[in-house]
Amino acid sequence: MQKTSYPALRDLSTNDENKESPAPGEAEPIEVTAAEDLMREHGILRRALLVYQESAVRLRQDPASVPPDTLEKTANLFRVFGEEYHEKKLEETFIFPAVKKAPGAAAGYVDILLAQHVRGREITEYLLSISQADKIASNSVEPLAKALESFVRMYEHHAAIEDTVVFPAWKAAVGGNELDAMGEKFEEIEHQQFGEDGFEAALRRMEEIEESLGLSNLDMFTAPPPPKT
Ligand SMILES: [Fe+2]
Ligand SMILES: [Fe+2]
Repeated sequence: MQKTSYPALRDLSTNDENKESPAPGEAEPIEVTAAEDLMREHGILRRALLVYQESAVRLRQDPASVPPDTLEKTANLFRVFGEEYHEKKLEETFIFPAVKKAPGAAAGYVDILLAQHVRGREITEYLLSISQADKIASNSVEPLAKALESFVRMYEHHAAIEDTVVFPAWKAAVGGNELDAMGEKFEEIEHQQFGEDGFEAALRRMEEIEESLGLSNLDMFTAPPPPKT
């Protein structure tokens, strides 16, 4: 398959967002620990999964209600922020090697998590390729909806295990003093990768995508009351 290059998050940033120190009267940036950093990155990825989930439902109801370029933007964010940064630069470089050697149940998850990263990238490649068209072909609607749903199912479980088992095991393996240094290291990698605050850029990108699909009102997801018993 021919590889296409996709715009990186840094392409969306504006110069005045590259500034290092806050303007007078502006709040200082709040320190984020390494584990908190990883977990809030999952928050961005979960918002992308919500877009995938809603897109799968809408595709089946009315394929024209899901503009392919919105799917492309979401898949591109997942690639740049999720796969190339969060997975490759942080988890596969620092977290998994340390957890693999640590005692306890977490080590047993590492090979599965790695295999899921690989499968996720295959699905992202498929999404990026299918969303190049102006319109999703009618015979692609159901396979696309299924691919979106299976990706959401896999990644929700994946991130939940990382948050509750793998990251705590990594924190325990690395230990107190080293954790602060890791937090700074992660920050440095984020700057190298995105040239600014990657989290903020990804958050803005996600908000734009949600807005364009009419998904930005949290209240629309409030569940109806349960049946009366
Ligand atoms: Fe992961
Ligand atoms: Fe993760």
